[in-house]
Amino acid sequence: MTVSLELLRRCHFAVDMGAARTRVYVKGAGLVVDQPSVVAVNTRTGGLIAVGEFAEKMTGKTPGYIRVQRPISGGTIVDIEMAQRMLRHLLGDKMRRTLRRKPRLRAAACTPHDADPLAQRATIETLVGLGARRVELVDTLIAAAVGCGLPVERPEATMIMVCGAAATQVAVLSLGSIVTAERIPVGGEAVDHAIVQHLRHRHELMLPSQAVRPLQLALSGNGLTPHGPASTEIHGRDVATGLARSVHVDTAAVRDAIQTPLTAVLDGIGKVLRDCPPDLVADLADRGIMMVGGSALLPGLDQMLRQATGIPVHIAERPDVCAVQGLGAMLEGRIDPLLLDPLAA
Ligand SMILES: Nc1ncnc2c1ncn2[C@@H]1O[C@H](COP(=O)(O)OP(=O)(O)OP(=O)(O)O)[C@@H](O)[C@H]1O
Ligand SMILES: [Mg+2]
Repeated sequence: MTVSLELLRRCHFAVDMGAARTRVYVKGAGLVVDQPSVVAVNTRTGGLIAVGEFAEKMTGKTPGYIRVQRPISGGTIVDIEMAQRMLRHLLGDKMRRTLRRKPRLRAAACTPHDADPLAQRATIETLVGLGARRVELVDTLIAAAVGCGLPVERPEATMIMVCGAAATQVAVLSLGSIVTAERIPVGGEAVDHAIVQHLRHRHELMLPSQAVRPLQLALSGNGLTPHGPASTEIHGRDVATGLARSVHVDTAAVRDAIQTPLTAVLDGIGKVLRDCPPDLVADLADRGIMMVGGSALLPGLDQMLRQATGIPVHIAERPDVCAVQGLGAMLEGRIDPLLLDPLAA
């Protein structure tokens, strides 16, 4: 494991700040925050107008003096001060007071697999600004694997795929550590973008930036696989006239449009399997791949992976919160460490 379980057990709260959503687990209280990583700022005064769900609803509908922004981009905190203000608001006064009362506040956070030192520093600094005296960083892949109940500590291979908004991370784990891993900068956002572009080019239709989840609309049912519905009706705005219009979109064409970003994900999985020792690959053939992260819910993605890799693919029970729940389990001491040398213990 990246940090010792002993250190994690001493943490008071854990944070998973993703490109799409921010989640906070407080020891003894459970998951207390699960909100979009969005803030709305009054540009005249610099004050915060809204955070989370409410700020996200404002996207694309604000007058000139309100700016909606995301302090986390591509899985990295790009605006530390804004991230701190967002976290403070999301936690609320009561929870912050509870945390402040701890004599030496300790925090845990998960960071993307190959986060560079600068990105790690940004995470640490954000939490130090919130009053943490010490911050432990855990690889998202490990936290997510623990969170979905994979037997991470045993000497057998488990394969996990974290499908986030900004990136997809794939790894083979054994004995509590990462054997091989790959981070592909393609996630739910890229897939959504591919669909928006497709509708724009093929049908001259613009989708409202939010409220409509473009993907869900286009692929309702099991659209990613050839067995889904043949066409879907989509409402949007005509690119030229600006008037409301609805079109019937061929789902096969949408499937082709999102194939490009998904090919990169398949390449990444292939690379991880190629780099993995043969003994572990044998384990994977029975156990398969566990998918977690919000984009694991993309309709038909699991089936597509099953066809491409030929090994079983499972989706975790609550894929979106696996990483933060994994951190929570480690904080609460629910994970037993593996004794690598039991005779000496
Ligand atoms: N039911 C769903 N169907 C399809 N996509 C979904 C669904 N629910 C969430 N998503 C997508 O999942 C993504 C969010 O996933 P998640 O919450 O894991 O992201 P994140 O942790 O904030 O991002 P990252 O880990 O990449 O920084 C979004 O792109 C969203 O569109
Ligand atoms: Mg995430």
